[in-house]
Amino acid sequence: MKDLRGLILSGGKGTRLRPITHTSAKQLVPVANKPVLFYGIEAMAAAGIREIGIIIAPETGDEIREVTGDGSRFGVEITYIPQSAPLGLAHAVLTAEPFLNDSPFVMYLGDNLLQGGIEELVAAFRAGTPDALILLTQVEDPENYGVAELNGDGSVTRLVEKPKEPATDLALVGVYMFTAGIHDAARAIEPSRRGELEITDAIQHLVNSGRRVEPHIVRGWWKDTGRLDDMLEANRLILDAIEPQIDGELIDSVVDGRVIVEGGATLIRATVRGPAVIAAGARLTDCYVGPYTAIGVDCELQNAEVEHSILLAGSSVRNLDGRMESSLLGRNVRIRRDHSQPRAFRFMVGDNSEIGIL
Ligand code: DAU
Repeated sequence: MKDLRGLILSGGKGTRLRPITHTSAKQLVPVANKPVLFYGIEAMAAAGIREIGIIIAPETGDEIREVTGDGSRFGVEITYIPQSAPLGLAHAVLTAEPFLNDSPFVMYLGDNLLQGGIEELVAAFRAGTPDALILLTQVEDPENYGVAELNGDGSVTRLVEKPKEPATDLALVGVYMFTAGIHDAARAIEPSRRGELEITDAIQHLVNSGRRVEPHIVRGWWKDTGRLDDMLEANRLILDAIEPQIDGELIDSVVDGRVIVEGGATLIRATVRGPAVIAAGARLTDCYVGPYTAIGVDCELQNAEVEHSILLAGSSVRNLDGRMESSLLGRNVRIRRDHSQPRAFRFMVGDNSEIGIL
């Protein structure tokens, strides 16, 4: 088999993570302080893939290029592939055809996270030489995904994108392996009701043409980080596996459990109960940071309690008597309490917002 190439889809609209995605690409929202997109690149690099194409949208492409670079820091070579409009996953594949040529490739949705990487899957793809290999997992809300139906012998019979009445609970995970035959399949299909060229339809076309589509059930966890709760859940799952490391400065502070405090972060009279990560330049004074929290670069917490939350760079939380939890703050968000009774707070706030609570 020719060398595998990588294709990461990092265009699209990101409507479900607004307002964060009004000003930033959803694939750059950090999970455990690292952009979601980087996990996919790292998984490909670990599987020995050296040439990766990244699909980008006109609105967010420049930011993705700037943050991700030429790939050298991941040990790969990245080619950016602009897609004029988010016309579907199969349209993205066709857009990448000049980059992919006739190479087999791994396609990874830039907002997906897959525990355990893709090395085993790449090995199975090389060994079994199917026309396509798809990943499936059982979910509670199959209507939000591509859904697969299998035969008694385990082969794929039908794939439907976000069916109102799903026939099974087997969702398509956003990691696929294809041979070059997928290009003709993508050309053969029509846009769906939502106006997109669906990859599920292209794969169905392979099935209908008698091509071999091999399903694999995912072991371990998988997350599509397109929604707030999934993003927090992905953050929780990644933080659960971090190696503790304290490089920042701790003054009269207590750090407990799996915690990373990066160099240049300062904790003064703070308690951090892991799993949590505190990025460089963060300043925590008289506060409590609870499990499953990721505090971004240059954030400031003062007289506040934060738990199970993600704070992007430059945000601050001050004088909250209640605990902030299950929240996602964009960049440079400022939250402070003025005067009021303790209450529970829940926020999803866009970049550069400012909230003052009475
Ligand atoms: O997460 C798994 C699901 O991903 C699958 O179960 C579905 O079958 C599949 O269609 C897809 O559904 P989503 O609705 O979650 O796809 P979304 O629009 O979020 O796009 C996935 C990624 O691909 C995201 O990083 C944006 C990017 N994208 C999307 C489109 C439509 C592009 O780069 N170009 C596009 O045209």
